[in-house]
Amino acid sequence: MRVLSGIQPTGRFHWGNYFGAIRQYIDLQTNEQAFYFIADLHALTTIRDAALLKELTNDAALDLLALGLDPDQATLFRQSDVPEVTELMWLLMSITQMHLLEKCVSYKDKKEKGIAADAGLFTYPVLMAADILLYDSDVVPVGADQIQHIEVTRDIAKRFNSTYKTEALHLPTGKTLDTTAKVPGTDGEKMSKSYNNTIPVFDTPKRLRRKIMSIKTDSTPVEDPKDPDGCMVFTLYKLFATEEQQAALADRYRAGGMGYGDAKQTLYEAAMDYFGPAFECRAELEQNPARVEEILQAGAATARAKGQEVLDRCKEACGLR
Ligand code: ADP
Ligand code: TRP
Repeated sequence: MRVLSGIQPTGRFHWGNYFGAIRQYIDLQTNEQAFYFIADLHALTTIRDAALLKELTNDAALDLLALGLDPDQATLFRQSDVPEVTELMWLLMSITQMHLLEKCVSYKDKKEKGIAADAGLFTYPVLMAADILLYDSDVVPVGADQIQHIEVTRDIAKRFNSTYKTEALHLPTGKTLDTTAKVPGTDGEKMSKSYNNTIPVFDTPKRLRRKIMSIKTDSTPVEDPKDPDGCMVFTLYKLFATEEQQAALADRYRAGGMGYGDAKQTLYEAAMDYFGPAFECRAELEQNPARVEEILQAGAATARAKGQEVLDRCKEACGLR
């Protein structure tokens, strides 16, 4: 079974991205054939600074590898290194009905807010369909907000197959990532780069500590007992701690005499322990850009071999051969 997903390099990864998506992708690589790519073509719909896009794409590769994406188990590549994807996109665009795209929320939201939407944003789901269909993907794990795009992908694939009386395209199924543990940001809202409340996975210890110290808490005095369950610091601590560690910190909350600053320090230490090996691995990778490029190129070669096979089937089906 082939699992495929893409992640946009539109900002540095934060704890929400890690626990809500990246960790789950990494878990899947052990028993499924996994294809993961950095969606730099999709990022063009929002990032118009060449140096920034390059930097974020490179950071995304380093971050994913440092966090445990293993190139011996999963295929990691840059979307733009597989030109077949944009070729397939055109074949799909030619049979995609406008109404399918008009109902997609990313475009609709922008239009309703009166923001000018580019053709790229409008046709974004067709590029996503090409990403998925090009590799005969079986399962596409994504956040709940992307499930609509998987439905569109299935509709496009069915229409292509019925228009050309072919079975060239394989229908994927979506799999919603487990986001029951929605990670809160420093202000208590959902952690998101759009809300400016993120705690990045990789940053200098000093800046990370400062971020953690900025988490909003109530004004219960130090000596008073506190409720761990209503506190964001505790919610975040649970992501990193064992049950015993959680119980120990909860007891300190309830006993009184512990300030929120101490709880934040405990959270900071737990996060540093948890991500410590990834920090070391990232620092090593940073010293070896040639190795990272080699991994991405090898991933692209594997992806292209599969992609060319599917694209050939599609071209044959619509009379381009
Ligand atoms: P952002 O909200 O920062 O723009 P993205 O939309 O790029 O993040 O999210 C990429 C992935 O990370 C998605 O699969 C999404 O479900 C997951 N994710 C993002 N923020 C959180 C969060 N606070 N809690 C859980 N999962 C999250
Ligand atoms: N649109 C996805 C997002 O914003 C990223 C993405 C692009 C993707 N192509 C994909 C995800 C193909 C899964 C499959 O999160």
